Amino acid sequence: MKHALVVYNTTFGSTKELAEEIAAGIQDAGEISCEVVNHKELNGKDVSRFDAILFGCPVHGAQATRGIKGAIKKAAKAGLDGKIVSTFDTHMGHEGRAVRNMESLLTKVSPDARLITPGFSGRVKGFRGPLSEEEIPKAREFGKNIGQEIL
Ligand SMILES: Cc1cc2nc3c(=O)[nH]c(=O)nc-3n(C[C@H](O)[C@H](O)[C@H](O)COP(=O)(O)O)c2cc1C
Repeated sequence: MKHALVVYNTTFGSTKELAEEIAAGIQDAGEISCEVVNHKELNGKDVSRFDAILFGCPVHGAQATRGIKGAIKKAAKAGLDGKIVSTFDTHMGHEGRAVRNMESLLTKVSPDARLITPGFSGRVKGFRGPLSEEEIPKAREFGKNIGQEIL
């Protein structure tokens, strides 16, 4: 059994919803357990247990949030070498801006992680969400592709 961890930061809940869809997609791929946690819960997690870790946040000010960047640095310190890592974001027009931000941070702080790009960027209908319905099957598919890499 392989193990994946999906870490999200959210203000209004849409990025959590996206994290859960991606996690469901990962599990669609096969025998993979997948935990979904808020970035604040990362402290209590033994990062070494996981084969893959995904990081996601809303786009704020055309970039990734401070919270998720802190989580990435913390996880990198605990050790991401050889693990699959990838990213996702939610946005209202600045598609993929936080994804690219997180990807460059991961490359910098953990060059020996197996970064899968491009991450997934999902549009929300308004400032407080919800996630646009058409993003849901795409998020499941993105998760499934990550799951196939994990297996
Ligand atoms: C402080 C703040 C700044 C934001 N800046 C942007 C932005 O620069 N570009 C963009 O596309 N969306 C921006 N948004 C909209 C967010 O992308 C949207 O609120 C978010 O995707 C909802 O996800 P959440 O429910 O997980 O917080 C901003 C939202 C907030 C609260």
